[in-house]
Amino acid sequence: MSIPLLSSDEILKKINLYSYQQKKTYLAMYSSWYGGIVKDPALMLIPIDDHLVHRGDGVFEAMKYVRGEIYLLQDHLDRLESSALQLGMKWPFSRDHLATILMDTIRASGAVEAVLRVFLSRGPGGFTTNPYDSVGTQLYVVVTELKSLPEEKYRLGASIGKSQVLPKDPWFATIKSCNYLQNVMMKKEAVDRGLDFTVGFDQQGFLTEGSTENIVLLDAAGNLLRPSLRQVLRGTTMMRVFHLAKSLVEQKAIRGLEERDLTEKDILNAKEVMMMGTTLDVLPITSFEGKNIGDGKVGLIAPTLRRLLLEDMGLGN
Ligand SMILES: Cc1ncc(COP(=O)(O)O)c(C=O)c1O
Repeated sequence: MSIPLLSSDEILKKINLYSYQQKKTYLAMYSSWYGGIVKDPALMLIPIDDHLVHRGDGVFEAMKYVRGEIYLLQDHLDRLESSALQLGMKWPFSRDHLATILMDTIRASGAVEAVLRVFLSRGPGGFTTNPYDSVGTQLYVVVTELKSLPEEKYRLGASIGKSQVLPKDPWFATIKSCNYLQNVMMKKEAVDRGLDFTVGFDQQGFLTEGSTENIVLLDAAGNLLRPSLRQVLRGTTMMRVFHLAKSLVEQKAIRGLEERDLTEKDILNAKEVMMMGTTLDVLPITSFEGKNIGDGKVGLIAPTLRRLLLEDMGLGN
């Protein structure tokens, strides 16, 4: 036999030898399967028979830890719970216990700022599509270093294009499931085309979202517009930004806030376009399919909204 049969000791030795850049940024993992926290990236593993692995049967959240707090924690947990409910998954712990696990994992990581990824999986057991074959919901939490975009992107703006990837249907789009193949293909097409992002359109030609971020427009009349959430993930960042933007309406810096169906034409006629998400915050977009948005320069409102959001995180100057 040419393929070696390995002992547990040999495997442990081997997995510690594998080294790649990203691994150095993995700081801590909680696993309900282990019943505790590990700090060795080589041991941050999920059983192959967990339905999360072989069927994408799980839900997740990505959160930001800054200034000693998980920003928008309750909003993320609301969405996690809603995603889990829609898949008929059992919620494993009380909210308070879950929050304690998250904070303990961050503490173990020693990070001052971090990204926290929380996965609720259907759990190990069998290799079928039958969710009842599993032993029960598991929780995995991974803390990694927070990597921000270069400041230059916020100063000069980013580029977007029109995605050719088939949109998710409304049920699927509103669940943050671990089946992210469409999102993966959108990111791939953006990278392949040399764009920062592509944005999707539904079957009727209405704007949806980016691969893992929401899109928001400022129209020529000064209204801040978000696409109808019918076929879009309800982004915690976008919703918070709209809440914070009420102060700009009061100051008459913008005219109003609206949620409605938007088209490609709305993007091309917009004064400003921006992408929003947990790791991006608010990122100005200056071109769509190679065409300038407005005068092709970063406008006033996107940086203002970014500042409001950072202040809301306690990161203001
Ligand atoms: C498909 C999709 N849309 C939008 C977002 C933005 O959501 P949030 O602001 O909560 O990060 C995400 C974030 O992960 C996403 O996966």
